[in-house]
Amino acid sequence: MAKIFCIANQKGGVGKTTTTVNLAAGLAKIQQRVLLIDLDPQGNATMGSGLDKRALALTVYDVLLGSASVREARQTVEKVGYDVLGANRELAGAEVELVQMEHRDRRLKAALAEVQDDYDFILIDCPPSLSLLTLNGLTCAHGVVVPMQCEYFALEGLSDLVNSIKQVHANMNRDLSIIGLLRVMFDPRITLQQQVSEQLQAHFGDKVFQTIIPRNVRLAEAPSYGLPGVVFDPSAKGSLAFIAFAREMVERVGVVLPKAKVARKKPAKKTQTAAKRQTPSA
Ligand SMILES: Nc1ncnc2c1ncn2[C@@H]1O[C@H](COP(=O)(O)OP(=O)(O)OP(=O)(O)O)[C@@H](O)[C@H]1O
Ligand SMILES: [Mg+2]
Repeated sequence: MAKIFCIANQKGGVGKTTTTVNLAAGLAKIQQRVLLIDLDPQGNATMGSGLDKRALALTVYDVLLGSASVREARQTVEKVGYDVLGANRELAGAEVELVQMEHRDRRLKAALAEVQDDYDFILIDCPPSLSLLTLNGLTCAHGVVVPMQCEYFALEGLSDLVNSIKQVHANMNRDLSIIGLLRVMFDPRITLQQQVSEQLQAHFGDKVFQTIIPRNVRLAEAPSYGLPGVVFDPSAKGSLAFIAFAREMVERVGVVLPKAKVARKKPAKKTQTAAKRQTPSA
């Protein structure tokens, strides 16, 4: 049965999508079967995984509204090594449409039941808000990974996220907990970042992942080629850190890695190929 994780932080631009796509690719590199779900209408994780969000016939929007199943809407992207349930701007409308629907905060959970055994990990890239979309993610997850920059305002807003997680835990999902805080875009030359990093460790102890993701230009360049950094330039410092992080995640959540797993044969599924270099849409 798949372990399901939300990558969440309601702050914008803190590295959620970069973490999701690179963790997915890192896990795939160590023979884990991964489904990435893009729960953000920006569709950045979709594009960063090599799918053209504008060309998707079915997305997570259709799944949430019940007009398609996950099996119908997911795409296998061979070059990144994992499956993607994509998103585009249409998803912004789901917020409004879901409000009138029954079980509006657990529709993703219900939809995922049929693919639980197809994957080892399901990773959900959340939007920068504590919206109904994020709530759908939190309701079906076993845990939350919180990417953070080690900056002065890093902790601001963290308590809102923690409170939301507590509420979902109390009312809807007893499995939910914070798996860990991941320090990202880290620059060791900046004293303030070192200080905040130390404060995080002092406050949250083991909840802070040991792996630190450095600021690395190759990670920022990769999405414009429709690839996670880990695939685009596997030897870049940032990519190596994400591969180490994938191993730490596996260890933390108690997955035993097989010594030599036979290469998985995937059923032939429709795959969209991305343009060589993608241009972001308006
Ligand atoms: N380790 C890193 N080194 C260099 N650049 C990075 C790194 N991590 C992320 N970035 C860049 O920072 C920007 C924000 O990252 P990202 O899109 O992952 O954040 P996000 O939290 O998903 O944003 P949003 O809240 O808008 O969804 C992007 O341009 C990304 O390429
Ligand atoms: Mg994002």
